[in-house]
Amino acid sequence: MKKLFPQIDGFIHGGDYNPEQWLDMPEILAKDIEMMKEAHVNCATLGVFSWSVLEPEEGVFNLEWLENIINNLYENGIYTILATPTGARPAWLAHKYPEVLRVASDNIRNHFGVRHNHCMQSPVYREKAEIIIRKLAERFGNHPGVILWHISNEFSGECYCDKCVAKFREWIKNKYKTLDNLNKEYWTTFWSHRYQSFDQVEPPYDNGEFSVMGLNLDWKRFTTWSMKDYMDHEINILRELTPHKPITTNYMRCFDGLDYDEMSKSLDMISWDGYPAWNNNYESLWQTAADVAFDHAQMRGYGKGKPFMLMESVPSQVNWHPINKLKRPHIHKLSCLQAVACGSDTVQYFQWRKGRGSFEQYHGAVVDHLGRNDTRVFKDVQEVGAILRELKAVQGSTIKAKAAIIFDRQNGWAIDGVSGFKLHDMGYERTCRDWHNALTKRGVEADVVGCCADLSGYSLVIAPMLYMLNDGVAEKLKNFTANGGVLAATYFTGYVNKNTLNYLGGFPGDGLKEVFGLYSEECDVLYPEERNALVMNEAEYELKDLCEVIKLDTAKSLGNYKSDFYADTPVFSVNEFGKGKAFYIASRTESKGTDAITDVLLKASGIETKELPEGVEMHIRDNGDSEYVFYLNFTDKEQKVADTVLAPYDVQVIKHSK
Ligand code: GLA
Ligand code: ZN
Repeated sequence: MKKLFPQIDGFIHGGDYNPEQWLDMPEILAKDIEMMKEAHVNCATLGVFSWSVLEPEEGVFNLEWLENIINNLYENGIYTILATPTGARPAWLAHKYPEVLRVASDNIRNHFGVRHNHCMQSPVYREKAEIIIRKLAERFGNHPGVILWHISNEFSGECYCDKCVAKFREWIKNKYKTLDNLNKEYWTTFWSHRYQSFDQVEPPYDNGEFSVMGLNLDWKRFTTWSMKDYMDHEINILRELTPHKPITTNYMRCFDGLDYDEMSKSLDMISWDGYPAWNNNYESLWQTAADVAFDHAQMRGYGKGKPFMLMESVPSQVNWHPINKLKRPHIHKLSCLQAVACGSDTVQYFQWRKGRGSFEQYHGAVVDHLGRNDTRVFKDVQEVGAILRELKAVQGSTIKAKAAIIFDRQNGWAIDGVSGFKLHDMGYERTCRDWHNALTKRGVEADVVGCCADLSGYSLVIAPMLYMLNDGVAEKLKNFTANGGVLAATYFTGYVNKNTLNYLGGFPGDGLKEVFGLYSEECDVLYPEERNALVMNEAEYELKDLCEVIKLDTAKSLGNYKSDFYADTPVFSVNEFGKGKAFYIASRTESKGTDAITDVLLKASGIETKELPEGVEMHIRDNGDSEYVFYLNFTDKEQKVADTVLAPYDVQVIKHSK
């Protein structure tokens, strides 16, 4: 068992702290320390957007205040996570060096403003970032209170400037080597789009080439490459100056602009910012929770099973949902402990104190404009701090998932780029969430992993809609099954290679036809109100959206279509492959069908399930010596699980020594 932060005895409890907004009010800063201690806060994230205070003019530095704050926090038992300040830039930088400003897909350069919008390939931006990062690392990198580097903030976006376009061409040339190869993989003879030179390659401008699927996908891959290249620039400086300080950057929920699997290769730990819409008007609290369990499981996946960090969450309401509801009573505790139950070793907030003005002045914080320590929100935070102290033995323990859902960002891009079938939303993310939810309901923990993950520790892998097969993926799935794993795939599997060229001779391609013992002949698309049904063991389960017509070779049908011209042909099948089994689900099921199929998959893989009342989640953290079983009641009723009684919205943690 390895703790994320050996310095800290227990979980991190804290959040983003922006004292630079309050430097002219020393009484506020003094109060902050006092109130942090009252709230059992042991860590503050500093410097996320401090550049214009740290370097008010080019080459003029002002780091004194930060030193005072870090020292003061440390003397009061509060550690610092120090951010590089590159999430937003000072005005002098943008005005003197406009090349740092991004160019959008309409080829227009941004004006100065907002944040997270720098050109990642700008040498000037890199140089100026390096100067301030060196200053910070030299001055604070070895401070005993500084426990982690936080790189920039929520990387996102893309840039279409000349420098980025030139880099993109280099990237393309490096990948395809010859023009002939590029033209073949992009299928550019279609509409007479053949390139005669690599210099003709352009990114998908709004008024340019966005009709080549392979190009669109490569642009997204390049954007991740470019962002990681920039992130690595910052990381290399810190590794040189402070080789022993770990590094993270904060991810966003299911963010589709970057392939976090790639970004994660450079990080020591995974952290993310979670802002679910608890108590919304479109789903049950339990449904919201189940989706959040998926989000946490994805962070475990990025971190290869290690504990992760909940770097930001809100103690009350955010300011950017369409309707910003307050967290109802009990929900703060439930949501924070759910993060811990799912493998987080931190509970952190955005932010400590609400600012007085500008864009986020109505975003919730631990301390609001009222400034009191007896508010409902402050007491909620205090309660969580106290509980985390009691649970400190759980820190460092991990979740031993026997199942995994493959939800792969690059595959998602390929699906989103499909011109055909169901335009606008093929429902990839929702589908992956639905399969995960079905496992969560049964008390089965599943990691959410990309298709590059090592699958060898799992007994069951569900790979919904694995439309694109990156190099080596089919081989890995094949070996997983041959070695005794239970694999399940759905409609829309293995249609294209990594450059979106279709496989010839039947989907799923790249050797997967043999694994599943079938091929797909056609894919019907239903109107939203239309339904078919899966008939299995004399029961019927509704089917919607996509219905593949499949032809079995060595596979055996477990259930057939009820209606339409493909009535009585298979929907659900199994194929014995090596020591394992490969299941295929040819259509999209409603939750009852997903549940019924999940039961079959779990039985085949020998994974134990747990009878849980609807609305109750169970997660188990394991530190080698003991198991900590978390029961979370997301209902307003008392619930019982075995001998444990859960009050409405209650959380119980039960320790079992091994
Ligand atoms: C993100 C950012 C924070 C803040 C919050 C608001 O997570 O990282 O700076 O803007 O959103 O919810
Ligand atoms: Zn650029």
